[in-house]
Amino acid sequence: MSQLKWWQEVVFYQIYPRSFADGNGDGIGDFRGMIEKLDYLRDLGIGAIWLSPHYPSPMDDCGYDISDYTAVAPEYGTLEDFKAFLAGAHLRGMRVILDLVLNHTSDEHPWFLESRSSRDNPKRDWYIWLDPAPDGGAPNNWNSTFDGSAWEFDETTGQYYYHFFFKQQPDLNWRNPQVKQAMFDAARFWLDLGVDGFRLDAIGTIFEHPDMPNHPVNMTLAELRRRFHTCQTAEERAELGKTWEKMFKFQVEQLGMHELMQELRAVLDEYDGDRMLVGENDDIAYHGSGDNELHMVFNFPLMRTDRLSPDWIRANQRDRLAALGAISPESWPCNTLGNHDCPRLFTSFCDGLPKDALARLHLALMLTLRGTPFLYNGEEIGMTDLILEDIGQFRDTLGTWVYHAEIEELGVPQKEALEHAARLTRDKNRTPMQWQNAPNGGFSPEGVETWLPVNPDYASCVNVADQESNPASMLNFYRRMLHFRQQMPALIRGDYTPLHEDSSDYFAFLRRCNEQTCLVILNLSEKAHLLAFDLPGQHKTAKCVFRSSTVGIGEDILSSIPIQPYEVYIAEIQ
Ligand code: GLC
Ligand code: CA
Repeated sequence: MSQLKWWQEVVFYQIYPRSFADGNGDGIGDFRGMIEKLDYLRDLGIGAIWLSPHYPSPMDDCGYDISDYTAVAPEYGTLEDFKAFLAGAHLRGMRVILDLVLNHTSDEHPWFLESRSSRDNPKRDWYIWLDPAPDGGAPNNWNSTFDGSAWEFDETTGQYYYHFFFKQQPDLNWRNPQVKQAMFDAARFWLDLGVDGFRLDAIGTIFEHPDMPNHPVNMTLAELRRRFHTCQTAEERAELGKTWEKMFKFQVEQLGMHELMQELRAVLDEYDGDRMLVGENDDIAYHGSGDNELHMVFNFPLMRTDRLSPDWIRANQRDRLAALGAISPESWPCNTLGNHDCPRLFTSFCDGLPKDALARLHLALMLTLRGTPFLYNGEEIGMTDLILEDIGQFRDTLGTWVYHAEIEELGVPQKEALEHAARLTRDKNRTPMQWQNAPNGGFSPEGVETWLPVNPDYASCVNVADQESNPASMLNFYRRMLHFRQQMPALIRGDYTPLHEDSSDYFAFLRRCNEQTCLVILNLSEKAHLLAFDLPGQHKTAKCVFRSSTVGIGEDILSSIPIQPYEVYIAEIQ
């Protein structure tokens, strides 16, 4: 196998800047705070950071509505602070990738302010403007995914503009070459400063169907979301999933994407240092012919389940690795189980099962599967979702929109609307990082009102300081596993062979490279097992090198390996 690139060897850690570390004590995370925590990340065993948007933003979509692509949000610091952060990360051997939001800008971006100012403004065509339908209504029946109609009427010029997300996020018109030029220049600005690549936001939404045909479903977004919330069965849910697809099919994954990604890739390739692109999309077609589009796309299909059962994981790996292999033997997988858009890992995939043990198994899964893992800040201390009880605390417009739409459009009682909104809002999984058992979880000084409330569970050991001093903590488990992985070439570069494929209790597999063969067993059940492996060749013993239980580490015979309930077991095969 050829030499691996840095992004194939590291573990990524997503920092959500507003919630990671507050350096100046104003209740909002910032670069000064992030710089202070770089040693923490290095010691944890992190090799690269994905920074969620750090640009100036009116915060209608918590930073994904950008009003200046080549500056730093004042509440996070200055460009000099950013440079110090980047240099500090590099000095400690960590790479940094930024979030690049291509589909839309904020409605407060100067480009949009110009565009909306008159029909003949030179930037008019930078966004998507259409005349009203003959009855004066929206040009077609498209929805945004976040707030009802995809069309917003603009009084000044008498036309509608299109937005796939919130109305404060007008879509750029990527068929205009000036838009591409301006956005590529923004990317170059950060590449020139030395950033190592980008996570590309929502790439599937960049182009729309040129004819803008009506979709065939007669349902509003509020209704659809409400039905998702109230549906009882998996069949109902699958049916709603199909409706969702029909409603958005002309608005996503349209022609032109691959050419655009190839052009963006060419921009990165002008730079030295193996700059990298990872796409927020699960379609592996974004690898292009293997080495001409994105370096990675997330394996989101793995997450689309209530329970990460061995059967589910094996099926996912079988399909995913086969599809990637068909593109090119070099196509590289990328796995994740959590980010700023979904419930926290500690609360997911484990209904009714012991959360702590499963969270450890899920980390082990990320660190032993083939491909690059992405972790989300706070996972390492087992942070949990915080269900907000007061609509006034909500910061994510998705939650507030659903709340008001359900009450006003659907007549849902307030209490029920609040209950749904609190589960749906992404605020629950974006609360400030918990550093200590101190007021505000040590995120901000006592008495300061943080931008989202701190989860009070910081007082019951869900904080960094308490876990640092406890060898059995989640944090120390993360540290141990992350450092362990760095020493195991087979876990980084090895191929993947599933074993005992009929087991519904445990997921066992081999990772094998020239230097090493590893046997990984993740027991996702409460049953103990005595397992026998019949491997080809002369292999007889398994030298256990990592296990999560308190059973001692030593040599096992391949024909009788004892596995504890919910255990992570990793051995070198000899
Ligand atoms: C991506 C981001 C999400 C954001 C959306 C619109 O899905 O991850 O947080 O709301 O794009 O930019
Ligand atoms: Ca601050």
